[in-house]
Formats: sequence, structure tokens, C-alpha cells
Amino acid sequence: MRIGIFGAGGMAAALGGQWAAAGHEVMVAARDQAKAAEISPKVGTWSEIARTSEVILLAVPAASVAEVVAAAGDLSGKVLIDCTNAVGPGARLTVPDQAAGIALSAKDAHVVKAFNLCAVDVWRMTPPVFGGRPLAVPICGSPEAVATVSSLVRDLGCTPLNAGGLDRAKLMEATMAFMVGLWFDGHDAQACFPPLPV
Ligand SMILES: NC(=O)c1ccc[n+]([C@@H]2O[C@H](COP(=O)([O-])OP(=O)(O)OC[C@H]3O[C@@H](n4cnc5c(N)ncnc54)[C@H](OP(=O)(O)O)[C@@H]3O)[C@@H](O)[C@H]2O)c1
Repeated sequence: MRIGIFGAGGMAAALGGQWAAAGHEVMVAARDQAKAAEISPKVGTWSEIARTSEVILLAVPAASVAEVVAAAGDLSGKVLIDCTNAVGPGARLTVPDQAAGIALSAKDAHVVKAFNLCAVDVWRMTPPVFGGRPLAVPICGSPEAVATVSSLVRDLGCTPLNAGGLDRAKLMEATMAFMVGLWFDGHDAQACFPPLPV
């Protein structure tokens, strides 16, 4: 798959590196071309990467997404993965429905929420397996776009979970803020979820 990545920070390097290792063509657009080139030899402008990619990972701060999407131009038909967390002080959401806002600005793109629940160190793992169980990755979006991103989740050695339409993305965003808040307060958030018999 031709995967464009917007941004050249931790999430871009972690997920981009995994997908390149899995055989995908990874291309990067970022303010810092040198950092982009550390992730992939294929570096371009926001609009060049948008035009040539089938799937694009938005790996910039939540507050910068609108600027980057505007610079990318026409994103129609592209699967646009939103992994951003709009979280401010006290682990509070600064935007109530980030993914829906992106869908409004990226006209005719297929916006998907995924990869926002785990820290970057998890996405660097090959594969992320905990207690013998592969990491499950919920994905919200249209069925077709979720299917596309599911294959990218499997390439990480993770299990994709179809978590419903993009209207449910705000639940994932709130879940992340709530759980991170518990962790910041020193609680074992994982202990809230006992394993269920399968
Ligand atoms: N880190 C995590 O554990 C984690 C986990 C899940 C989701 N996320 C989400 O993933 C996204 C990326 O996080 P990250 O940890 O990879 O961040 P990061 O390491 O700080 O990298 C951010 C990238 O965005 C670029 N950027 C910042 N402001 C920009 C702007 N106004 N216009 C264009 N590019 C801009 C940075 O460019 P410069 O180098 O030029 O500043 C850098 O390439 C965030 O939305 C975050 O909420 C992070």
C-alpha cells in the first residue's frame, strides 16, 4: 500500500517504520525534511504526499491538524487515519470530537480513528504482545476504511477491532483521556478491565 505520513515525530517513526518493514511504500511530509528522511527516503510536500498516497496517517499534534489538512489540499477518496489526542492539562479533552472535526475539514476523505489508545513505545514493539495476547486495536470509520486500516493493524502483529462508525470515535477519544487521567493520578487503569472468558 502507498502510505503517506504527515509529521516526523515519534508516532510517525514508530508506525511508519513498522509499515515499511512490512513491505509498504511509506512517504513522509513534515516541516523538518531531515527528520522526515530518517523515516523514509520518500519525502515530499503535504500536497505531494496527499496526492500519491492511498492511506495517510495524521501524526502531528491535534492543534496542528487543521493547518496540515489545509496544506494537503484535495484528500478526497483517501483513507485518513486520525491517531491524534486533543488532551490538555488534567488529561481533559480540548476538543470534544476531534475525528468528526477532521472529517468536516478533509472533504470526501474517509476518516478513521485508530492508534490513539496506546503510547508510542507500544507502537515500536514488534509485535506488541502482552501476557501472550496480541494488542487489540479498535478502529472507528466506514466499513471499507476500517477494512483497509485493519490490514495495517495486522501488519503490526495486532488484532483489529471494528469499533463502529466515526460517530463512535469521540468515545475512543474520551476513553483515552479518562484512562490516561487515571494513570497520571497513579492508578493501575488496566486493572479496571478483568479478562473475560472467551
Ligand atoms: N506520543 C504518543 O505516545 C502518542 C500516542 C498516541 C497518539 N499520539 C498522537 O500522535 C500525534 C503525534 O504525536 P507524536 O508523539 O509523534 O508527536 P511528536 O513526536 O511531537 O511529533 C509531532 C510532529 O508533528 C510536527 N508538527 C508539530 N506542529 C506542527 C505544525 N503546526 N505543522 C506541521 N507539523 C507540525 C512536528 O514537527 P517539528 O519536528 O517540526 O516540530 C513533528 O514532526 C499527536 O496528535 C499525539 O496526540 C501520540
